Amino acid sequence: MPATVIVGAQWGDEGKGKIVDLLAEHSDVVCRYQGGPNAGHTIVRDGETFKLHHIPSGILYPGRVCVVGAGCVIDPGQLVREIDGLEERGIPTGDLRISGNAHLIMPWHVAIDAAGERRLGRLQIGTTRRGIGPAYADKAARIGIRVQDILDPKILRQKFETALAEKNLELERLHDHPPLEAEELADRMEEYADRLRPYVDDTSLLVDRALRDGKRVLLEGAQGTLLDLDHGTYPFVTSSNPIAGAATTGVGIGPTRIDRVLGVAKAYVTRVGEGPFPTEIEGPEHARVREIGAEFGTTTGRERRCGWLDLVALRFAVRVNGLTSLALTKLDVLSSFAEVPVCVRYRLEDGTETADFPAHQSDFHHCRPVFEPLPGWQREIGGELPAAAQEYVSFVEEALGVPVSLVGTGAAREHVLSLG
Ligand code: IMP
Repeated sequence: MPATVIVGAQWGDEGKGKIVDLLAEHSDVVCRYQGGPNAGHTIVRDGETFKLHHIPSGILYPGRVCVVGAGCVIDPGQLVREIDGLEERGIPTGDLRISGNAHLIMPWHVAIDAAGERRLGRLQIGTTRRGIGPAYADKAARIGIRVQDILDPKILRQKFETALAEKNLELERLHDHPPLEAEELADRMEEYADRLRPYVDDTSLLVDRALRDGKRVLLEGAQGTLLDLDHGTYPFVTSSNPIAGAATTGVGIGPTRIDRVLGVAKAYVTRVGEGPFPTEIEGPEHARVREIGAEFGTTTGRERRCGWLDLVALRFAVRVNGLTSLALTKLDVLSSFAEVPVCVRYRLEDGTETADFPAHQSDFHHCRPVFEPLPGWQREIGGELPAAAQEYVSFVEEALGVPVSLVGTGAAREHVLSLG
């Protein structure tokens, strides 16, 4: 199994980090293909909790090469802090490789992200305010600063000053934000550049060679399908493409190199930020799911909105990612419920029902979920699934036409059942 993509099948936070952590043990190379510090993985290992934003969780295994691909955007300060945090806890980072083509998130991107959200007021997207949108916008406008620019201090300073001349105008005139101090920022960037330079590599070549050598490569997406810039619930999306196809562009390999696409979905659904969410739970059960599932963001600490499992949206994820199997995480969170509703269709405003994800925003914004109540199992999940939990999983498999290969049953890494 040379290359496997792991992709979020919902709105992010599906527990991909844990699944990647599990599969990384049997992999040689682990790559992130898009996103930046808007993502956050929490991995619990031997009672120790690791929170990573940029670095794939494979780094926790000695000898795994971890790649941050060209499709990512990197906040250099954040990445340096992550490297330091790992090294301080005795985890070597020598096998980390960063694509020279990845773009850098600069302080003005962060300032513009926050200022833009403030300006939008009630219409805000609810971004993580990590500068993601503005950094990808500059990339598309071909005025971004790339990781390879840090290889030459003179180029870096030059690019930095040119960019800031324009960005300070934007900050002051559009956003009523004080200008950023060029000298101080350039000095700070040079410090980060010195730290990051040894990690910069031609990661497309590296992954290609690994695949040619028969090595096992994991390609890990951040966020999730419904946050995809092209196929998600626009404009309430992130500014990159989390879907599996983007693994090829984000890493720099061809689509024929990918063998498996594993979707990761929670046994229910969560969403952070604004935007429509048909199966959002109403009433006291909302708080119950949030508390049991500890649904607070890794990156922003924000409370996550919780909903029942949405099979219409999941079927869409199967389609746009070409999922070959599914990992269903956090099934244990549902263990105390007598009945577990699952959304099987949407009822549109005109009264018609559909099992296919609406192609147009107005249909999606106004649809209502049609739930099928499934019996709860009302006991803890141990080494095997209780009958009703097994039925829940089978129901999902049948509705989607995709096997569920892994089930998450608790926070620790050993709490995953493999269903073959
Ligand atoms: P941005 O990616 O910070 O621009 O935020 C855009 C939207 O994506 C917002 O609704 C965020 O809450 C959401 N988002 C971004 N990253 C994640 C993530 O890792 N998990 C869940 N939602 C995310």
